[in-house]
Amino acid sequence: MADLKNDKIPVHVSMIMDGNGRWAKERGKERVYGHFEGVESVRACVETAVEEGVRYLSVFAFSEENWNRPQDEVVALMGLMVKAMAAEMEKLNRNGVRFMVLGNRERLGDDLNRTIDECMDMTKDNETLTLIVFLSYSGKWDILQAARRYAADMIAHPEKREELETMGVEGFDKYLVTAGIPDPDLIIRTSGEHRISNYLLWQGAYSEYFFTDVLWPDFRKQEFRQALETYSKRDRRFGKVK
Ligand code: IPE
Ligand code: IPE
Ligand code: MG
Repeated sequence: MADLKNDKIPVHVSMIMDGNGRWAKERGKERVYGHFEGVESVRACVETAVEEGVRYLSVFAFSEENWNRPQDEVVALMGLMVKAMAAEMEKLNRNGVRFMVLGNRERLGDDLNRTIDECMDMTKDNETLTLIVFLSYSGKWDILQAARRYAADMIAHPEKREELETMGVEGFDKYLVTAGIPDPDLIIRTSGEHRISNYLLWQGAYSEYFFTDVLWPDFRKQEFRQALETYSKRDRRFGKVK
């Protein structure tokens, strides 16, 4: 494999972690078993991101649409989030990882919200890697909440009306939950599904996409490095002529 250090490393890599249920089913186990194993893949990807110099790693852990899954799976997933955060946070902190959760936090339980706040506060000054977990997130929801806050600012600040009316795309970026975070350079989706499933619709406008048949619990260091190598060979033109 090529030495990635000498190639183009994406600043922000995002993962649509898919295929946990199928991974478990293949082994005759409950779906939640696949979610447990998927946490190991997140750990491996965090380590790889640090090793390769990726500055932002984000993972799509639970979509707004995922609330429509059977209640027992939703409860198990939320419990797993709390457990995984509690178990991993000290090590992440020691390794210089800044931890963030982005999404519709109003829909999360008190226990989970408390744990998220503690973890975000503990790691807020870390600079090696920013790890973002998208929880109860969807791209359309993000754009809608941004539009609502933009409209509210217009009403609350008549003196800024002209500035707000004429602001460009970068101005609107600040209303999205990802304000201040660079758009993903590379979005990886596992499990052979070739769709975006309402993920980073605005922020992924110029991302490179990498699709793999590997199920998320099997996506580890080698698979991540393979995706990074593929990315390093892509030619990004952003609409220009090269
Ligand atoms: C991804 O795996 C995890 C979440 C969406 C929470 P899935 O649970 O979607 O697994 P499959 O796609 O059913 O195999
Ligand atoms: C996308 O996976 C959401 C997450 C990975 C959190 P899904 O399994 O929910 O997506 P669909 O339903 O196959 O599009
Ligand atoms: Mg799925």
